[in-house]
Amino acid sequence: MILMKRKSVEPIYSMCVQPSFIIGTYNEDGSCNFAPITWVSATCKGGDDYMLVISMYGSKRTRENVIRNRMFSANLVNTSMLPLMDYFGTKHSVDEHVQEPEYGVSCGEVLDVPTLDDSPWVYECEVAKAVEAGESVTFFCPIRNIQMDEKLNCTDTFDVDLTVLDPVIYSGRYHSLGRSLGKIGDFREKTMEKSEEREEILSKFHLHRMLMFILAGIALLLCFIGGMVAVHDITILVIGGILFLASVLYGFFSGAMFCPFCGQIISRQGFGEHCKYCGEKIF
Ligand SMILES: Cc1cc2nc3c(=O)[nH]c(=O)nc-3n(C[C@H](O)[C@H](O)[C@H](O)COP(=O)(O)O)c2cc1C
Repeated sequence: MILMKRKSVEPIYSMCVQPSFIIGTYNEDGSCNFAPITWVSATCKGGDDYMLVISMYGSKRTRENVIRNRMFSANLVNTSMLPLMDYFGTKHSVDEHVQEPEYGVSCGEVLDVPTLDDSPWVYECEVAKAVEAGESVTFFCPIRNIQMDEKLNCTDTFDVDLTVLDPVIYSGRYHSLGRSLGKIGDFREKTMEKSEEREEILSKFHLHRMLMFILAGIALLLCFIGGMVAVHDITILVIGGILFLASVLYGFFSGAMFCPFCGQIISRQGFGEHCKYCGEKIF
């Protein structure tokens, strides 16, 4: 078991790991409005009644539109849509001469909401509930339709290959996703394999360590006896010395002197059971 070294910091670092969406709504005059929102999550009322949970801070057009129309589209942002996301996120503050990037807009297939043609995954949502907390409002939004990239071949709810979607992950900075690591359950087997492997490593390590100490014990006993009779004959003392050297060499070459996980010479945390260097439990 690795002992992760952490430090406590102020809760201002609350932006860790957010999905990136551009929310599409209609303004009062019927024109489209798009804005990046990354405070997005999902929940389920029961059965297949899934809801998007989306939070907005302060006053913004998207918030007004969502409250008035009670529906919106949530367009997942992939890495090639980053210029669009950046544009929509700063459109009110940048000077008016900044050129608007090109993008296509369609209408939702189930709800009357504007959707972005570039997005590989679009939710069409209605608003069921709004909860205010200070300057933020959180909307609970039943998902009425999902448009997913045709390249995806999902067999069930939990079978969505995000590497096909290439989503942008936001933490205050933009990130792209790494590789796909497996499905639910894959790591249970790996944990079991790992713990069996671990047991094997530890039992070999303890066997070598026991042999090293037995050898060193016999060597020290011989040295003691040899020391008593050394006046007449130093043979036993010499044998004891050689045996002690052998026990040290055995400990060195069998690995009994080193942590079997990180290879550092054995030094415990305090006199505890864990390696001081890697934190693994070795005793
Ligand atoms: C990457 C990124 C993520 C954002 N996430 C959120 C968010 O989760 N909630 C929010 O209220 N504003 C968020 N914003 C800010 C809005 O997108 C921004 O205020 C936008 O200009 C609102 O446009 P609107 O007035 O047309 O709705 C985000 C901006 C960026 C660039």
